[in-house]
Amino acid sequence: MPPRKIIIDTDPGQDDAVAILLAFASPEEIEVLGITAVAGNVPLELTAKNARIVCELANHTHIPVYAGCDRPLKRDLVTAEHVHGKTGLDGPVLPDPEMTLADGHAVDFIIDTLRAHEPGTVTLCPLGPLMNIATAFQKAPDIVDRVQEIVLMGGAYFEVGNITPTAEFNIYVDPEAADIVFKSGAPIVVMPLDVTHDALVTPHRNDAFRALNSKVGHAVAEMTDFFERFDKEKYGSEGAPLHDPCVTAYLIRPDLFSGRHVNVQIETQSELTMGMTVADWWRVTDRPPNAMFMNDVDADGFFDLLTERLARL
Ligand code: BDR
Ligand code: CA
Repeated sequence: MPPRKIIIDTDPGQDDAVAILLAFASPEEIEVLGITAVAGNVPLELTAKNARIVCELANHTHIPVYAGCDRPLKRDLVTAEHVHGKTGLDGPVLPDPEMTLADGHAVDFIIDTLRAHEPGTVTLCPLGPLMNIATAFQKAPDIVDRVQEIVLMGGAYFEVGNITPTAEFNIYVDPEAADIVFKSGAPIVVMPLDVTHDALVTPHRNDAFRALNSKVGHAVAEMTDFFERFDKEKYGSEGAPLHDPCVTAYLIRPDLFSGRHVNVQIETQSELTMGMTVADWWRVTDRPPNAMFMNDVDADGFFDLLTERLARL
């Protein structure tokens, strides 16, 4: 099978960075057509910069990086410096990028790429708030049917929320954009907190990154060292969840994940539960399924894959 062509839509973020590195390290399964940056963990200027820092860390400077939407469709931007640090990529000391941004807007890159490829051959991988994808769908509705699949990190059901008691960060930042994406009709695979909260970077797993003894191995270990402080304190867990790499791992080893094809709707009205992903897990409504909503991961298999692949960079 030829590698899957993907666009990574991202707000790096240490876990976004690891997701990107995993994709770069897996050319047999994944061909990265481009990276589109979006505001999220930190403002757009920083996510667009961080995406290029990650490309340079992995010597993948040929990958085009586009800047996209700098704010949600209808709301003020909410950021997460409290988790990811001031730069969004706090932890390792990495040089400022020499790579320049690609010309043009991320939304146009998404539209043009989907139109330029055979229908059903390009997968979108959103790792941040969904405004780039939603804006592309609004601007060019013809591209929706051309999407092979959207594999995204976002939402929660049994784990409920991380930025509010009932909402996960990526969906909460722009619920209207998420609503557009979930109603689009494109095939969707969701990696919610229910999965990512099992993908914990324990000290043993982080040591394995460090033991790679490479530039990438050290950088990844230092990134996870940084953001785990926050999560360990919050959840009292052994380490921090490595959310976004679940998306790229799924493209390589879908057998590591399991879930249910169910209906998922986004709360856009209630201030109390804004951005909640209302998943009909028990199929108690007749609302048609619109997403493969994962809820389990083989965590050891996931970290073995990650470590083995990062060793290649
Ligand atoms: C998601 O929010 C961000 O902080 C992470 O990068 C991840 O995409 C987890 O809720
Ligand atoms: Ca992210």
